[in-house]
Formats: sequence, C-alpha cells, structure tokens
Amino acid sequence: MTEAEPVRFGVLGCAEIARRRMLPAIAAHPDAELAAVAAREAHRAEETARPYGCRAVGGYEALLADPDVEAVYVPLPNALHADWVAAALDAGKHVLAEKPLTLEAERTAALFATARERGLVLRENVMFLRHRQHARVRELLADGALGELRAFRAEFTVPARPEGDIRHSPALGGGALWDTGVYPVRAALHLLGPGLSVVGAVLRQDPRHGVDTAGSALLRTPDGAGVQLAFGIDHGYRSAYELTGELGRLVLDHAFTPPAGHVPRLRLERPGGVEELPLEPDDQVAGTVGAFAAAVRRGAGHRDRIEEEESLRQAELLGELARYGAPAGA
Ligand SMILES: NC(=O)c1ccc[n+]([C@@H]2O[C@H](COP(=O)([O-])OP(=O)(O)OC[C@H]3O[C@@H](n4cnc5c(N)ncnc54)[C@H](OP(=O)(O)O)[C@@H]3O)[C@@H](O)[C@H]2O)c1
Repeated sequence: MTEAEPVRFGVLGCAEIARRRMLPAIAAHPDAELAAVAAREAHRAEETARPYGCRAVGGYEALLADPDVEAVYVPLPNALHADWVAAALDAGKHVLAEKPLTLEAERTAALFATARERGLVLRENVMFLRHRQHARVRELLADGALGELRAFRAEFTVPARPEGDIRHSPALGGGALWDTGVYPVRAALHLLGPGLSVVGAVLRQDPRHGVDTAGSALLRTPDGAGVQLAFGIDHGYRSAYELTGELGRLVLDHAFTPPAGHVPRLRLERPGGVEELPLEPDDQVAGTVGAFAAAVRRGAGHRDRIEEEESLRQAELLGELARYGAPAGA
C-alpha cells in the first residue's frame, strides 16, 4: 500500500444524498475509489452500484465484513447513525457519517473516543465547511472588517418533502432541528467559536407527523453578541447568513449548499459604501471527499481536533435546543 493509492469506500444504504451527491463525488475523486455499495435489499444495491461498476452487497453487516473496504460512508436516517458508526469502527473502518453524527452529545463523544483509540478517522459530513467562502468570511472577521461583532443571523430552510420521508419520522430522528438546524448552529460555531450558549428556542411541532417542522433559536456569544438561527423543513428555500459588527454588515447568500459552479458573492456594507466581493466557485462535495481521504492517508495521529470539537459542541447545542421541542413536563 502506497500513500498515493485511493481510499476504498463502501457505502451503507442507497440514500438520496448518496446517489445524488456523494457517490458521483467519490467515484470522480482521484484520491477515492467506490469499492462497494450496500442496501438492505440486494436489488437496490445492484441498481445503485451498476453505473459505477462497483460491488453490490446485500445487507450492511456484509459490507462491514468486506476486507477490501477501508472507509465507510454512512447516509442512514439520523437515529441509525450512532449504532452503524460504532459497528463500522468495530470492524476497523474509517467513517464518514452524515450529519448529525448522533442524536446525543454523549454518544458523539464516545464515538470520537473509540475512533481515537483504534487509530481510525471519524468525521461528520458537514460539507459546507469545505467551501472556501467561509474561510474568506473568517479572514475578513479576523482582519477587523466589521469591528467588534454585535450579531449573527443564519437561516437554512427547505421545502416540504413527500409523505413517508425519513424527516417526518420521530423514530428515525426526523424533524427540522436535526435535519436543517445543524447548518446554522454549525455556522455559528465555525465563525464565532465554541463559547456560544443557548438563550431560548421555539420549535413548531407538526401534529400530523409528531416532529418539529420549523424552529428559531437565540444564542449568545461570551461577549454578548446575539445569535439568531432559523431552520425548517416546510418552507421556501433559504440558505444564508449575515454578521453585523460595529463597522458594518457582511452578508452571504447560498451559504450552505451552493452547487459547484456557483460564483459566491460576499456583500460588505459599511458607511463608505457597499462592496460585492466575488469569490472563486468551489466544489464542497469534492472537497469533503478529498479532505476525508487525505485524513485517512495521513493517519489518525493527525486527527482534526478543531473539527471534532466543533462536532461535539454542535451535538451539545442541538441537544439543548431539542429540549425546547419536548412536550411540556417531559
Ligand atoms: N450532508 C448533506 O448535505 C446532506 C443532505 C441530505 C441529507 N443528509 C443526511 O443524509 C442522511 C440520509 O438522508 P436522505 O434524505 O438521503 O435519506 P433517504 O433517501 O431516505 O435514505 C436513507 C437510507 O437509509 C436506509 N435505511 C436503513 N434503515 C432505514 C429505515 N428504517 N427507514 C428508512 N431508510 C432506512 C435506506 O437504505 P437502503 O434501503 O438502500 O438500504 C435509505 O436509502 C440523513 O442523515 C440526512 O441528515 C445530508
């Protein structure tokens, strides 16, 4: 095995996100190879594997037992992530798991500890972090473009999904908070740091399905800047954030799921005028696959402590916010 060999991925489940985004990206990336796809029913695995010419496996256990698979991508319903990530780590595989990594901060911490003990890479698939537009925002903040920060607002809302979607199932970890709340919470952590605390939240429950379909949260930074977050799965599409400081405002649209060809524009509004700062397009899906493969090849001694801590803090904050959706007295 040389360092240059691509990382051989196996995929647990023929999820929409896998078929639409991740499988094409894994297959196309020079540092990755799509070795096998598993589904609960073999025929689904066969249909999904066919265009890629990779192995089709019936059942997830069989894929984990495949010695040719080095790394496992887990795009299962949210409530199943923790157990299958644990099983994949037990089988000695590196793991890239869909967001949210688990539904409990304690489990997230335990899985990272297991990965560390076994010398394996474990990452939560929060793809927007790989888009360079956010690094540019962080540079502008660090350079004092806005002065002292006063407020952050972020929003990720998506249209309703068809009946039967995993997002409508409480048992599968559905609901707006776990599906879309991850994005604004993670953006706040990524841009403002881990010291955020929850002030309050409103989660609108959908009585038909028994999950929350809309939410708003108020958090604060240790310096007292207000952090307003909104998320939802029964909305018009909106994916944006803005930062307000003592000197002006910075606005980014298409913040969380820009397609690879999208030309990002940062709008910087200050008393001297409004600047539109065009940035280079970036492919955050390819970037995610490449960063994960590079981490596997670097070896576990080079784990990304900051990203891990962000994932863990995100799980803690989402857990706190989830309690605002619990029925009174629960
Ligand atoms: N990072 C991102 O940008 C992004 C975007 C969208 C979704 N996601 C995440 O990706 C995950 C999957 O989302 P999705 O919309 O792609 O889901 P989906 O199309 O419903 O796929 C879920 C997959 O899970 C498997 N599964 C196993 N047990 C299941 C059960 N009891 N009920 C239903 N499915 C079961 C199924 O695989 P088989 O039947 O094929 O075995 C199914 O294909 C979620 O965690 C979601 O949060 C991430």
